[in-house]
Amino acid sequence: MLKGRHLIEPGDFTLEELEGLFSLAERIEGDESYLRDSCRGRLLATLFFEPSTRTRLSFEAAMLRLGGSCLGFAEPGSSSAAKGESLADTIRTVSCYADAIVMRNPKEGAALLASRFSAVPVINAGDGGHHHPTQTLTDLLTIRRLRGGLGNLTIGFCGDLKFGRTVHSLAKTLARYTEVREIFISPPELKVPGYIRGGLEKGMIPCREAERLEDVIGDLDVLYMTRVQRERFFNEEDYIRLKDFYILTREKMENARPDLIVLHPLPRVNEIALEVDSDPRAAYFKQAKYGMYVRMALLASILGAVSC
Ligand code: NCD
Repeated sequence: MLKGRHLIEPGDFTLEELEGLFSLAERIEGDESYLRDSCRGRLLATLFFEPSTRTRLSFEAAMLRLGGSCLGFAEPGSSSAAKGESLADTIRTVSCYADAIVMRNPKEGAALLASRFSAVPVINAGDGGHHHPTQTLTDLLTIRRLRGGLGNLTIGFCGDLKFGRTVHSLAKTLARYTEVREIFISPPELKVPGYIRGGLEKGMIPCREAERLEDVIGDLDVLYMTRVQRERFFNEEDYIRLKDFYILTREKMENARPDLIVLHPLPRVNEIALEVDSDPRAAYFKQAKYGMYVRMALLASILGAVSC
């Protein structure tokens, strides 16, 4: 049962619980009127201390489609954080007003801290370069819908694997499924952190590193592109040097499998050429839509509107 639970990192939910969410999301996708008014009278607070388009708006769309309402802020300058209020005090206050809190914060561990001070469920919408569990729900639902399942696949993560929280959450979660092979494609400076790689190795998950996308693209069932996370760099020079390290083009796609799925959590900066958008293997805008369905399933479950 997910009712009343926090979601701080994807490991908080069992595989059965994830399965329940995906089935529910698929049911909503098939019949958008299903659960339409199930959260009437309930309030969702969205607290975004960092920029967001898809995560915040898909959560708000999800809550509104369930018949509930939303309150919150899209940038911290308009909240008392700008006056020096601690996160703990903000959360204690907001949890008096809302039935659940979705929070994005630039500090690693902020969501866990918030959950300790909240009287209502906290959903982590990204904590610094650490985790982003609801993007993982989105990614997994997309893979499941397009491939018919979540095991037996080779996934390549490409780009900023050091700071990319969506990669950390997805790599860790996919490793819980059978026959998953992971390839980390990055420049040496942006390698996946040891705590993620070490966890996979401990679980005996076949994984390897590569520097050139061209060398491995033909081996992949799923290619997960990411942008270089400019806001987490210490200096602009390094960012400029690394930002165009990978650009997925139509030419590179020629060497990929015909049934490859190209994902990207978005926003895209320059790492996927616009010419790839019309390739049937490009699934990143579908992915954004699945994000709303899976967040509807998550909110309805956490708020107890449905048993999952
Ligand atoms: C991602 C994030 O915020 O980590 N965006 C998203 O939520 N879809 C990826 C990114 O910002 O690069």
